[in-house]
Amino acid sequence: MTILPKPVICVGLSPCVQRILEFARFEPGGVNRARKVTVGIGGKGANTARMVRKLGGHPILVGYIGGANGMLLEQMLDAEEVGYRHVVVQGETRICQTLVEEGNPETTELVEEMPPLNADNWRHMMKLFESLELSGAVVPICGKLPAGAPADAYARLCGVVHEQGGRVILDTPGQPLVMALEHRPYLVKINDVELLQTLGGEDLPTACAELIKRGAQSALITRGSRTAFFVDGSQTLEIHPPPIEAVNPVGSGDAVTAGLAVALTEGREIAEALVEGMACGAANALHLISGQIEPGDVARLRCAVSVESLT
Ligand SMILES: Nc1ncnc2c1ncn2[C@@H]1O[C@H](COP(=O)(O)OP(=O)(O)OP(=O)(O)O)[C@@H](O)[C@H]1O
Ligand SMILES: [Mg+2]
Repeated sequence: MTILPKPVICVGLSPCVQRILEFARFEPGGVNRARKVTVGIGGKGANTARMVRKLGGHPILVGYIGGANGMLLEQMLDAEEVGYRHVVVQGETRICQTLVEEGNPETTELVEEMPPLNADNWRHMMKLFESLELSGAVVPICGKLPAGAPADAYARLCGVVHEQGGRVILDTPGQPLVMALEHRPYLVKINDVELLQTLGGEDLPTACAELIKRGAQSALITRGSRTAFFVDGSQTLEIHPPPIEAVNPVGSGDAVTAGLAVALTEGREIAEALVEGMACGAANALHLISGQIEPGDVARLRCAVSVESLT
């Protein structure tokens, strides 16, 4: 009997076709001719799924697609061996564009939104989600809710995962996060700015304690190149990221989620999974384009992550 590897179910409701346009010089308001165009996959959940695959995991991306762009997205997911379960909607999957200028470390992002969802679209998503095998699975839920989704959309998904015995890694700020807490997400993983904006106040330890009090089983609060904090009911850990020459840290949070999800799926303990996640975050920051982690970089950086117990 073959035992199939446990998939990582990545919820990324609004994936996109990501176009990267490279220019020798870019002048706003001028005529700019790209010298290279690369077409790929984007969106936080989709990027998390791609990085899970890069790390040797077996992702299934769950989201909405539409039109010819949606078909192209599925072809690209096939090529990268990323599994998917999509609900098809009217309209087109969004296209997002990254403009890169030679010698300029800042990139420009042109972001489209997906067409607003209607009640039927959401009902179909719930049905699809309830049909998945979630018992024992790690389920990253990533990114902002698309327009038209109910405010408690993530709360409902968390409820389904919790009931079936899966573990949610929740990476979203604001009201959708607050509403999801009572459904006991296994790990809330957001950055410090998002946490303080969501719960108010200026004190991280207080805000972390509040997440746990309201139902999160644990929380990882990242702070870019500074130390991250992990809390659960019984311990607080401070995790030191590896020192690196960062090129572009956008998407590093998604890389952390991917590393954590793969490590937890392999049955590793939380402290080890945190090291893996932090190494992946740093590995992402080494590249100009998000989501391009190299397992060799992760292996090297893993040794430079340290975990300190504060309790
Ligand atoms: N400059 C850096 N040096 C070392 N590690 C970094 C750096 N930037 C990011 N990281 C790693 O990536 C992790 C996540 O970074 P960050 O807190 O910026 O995530 P984020 O704000 O959620 O990013 P995004 O939402 O764009 O994915 C950090 O905890 C750290 O491990
Ligand atoms: Mg983030």
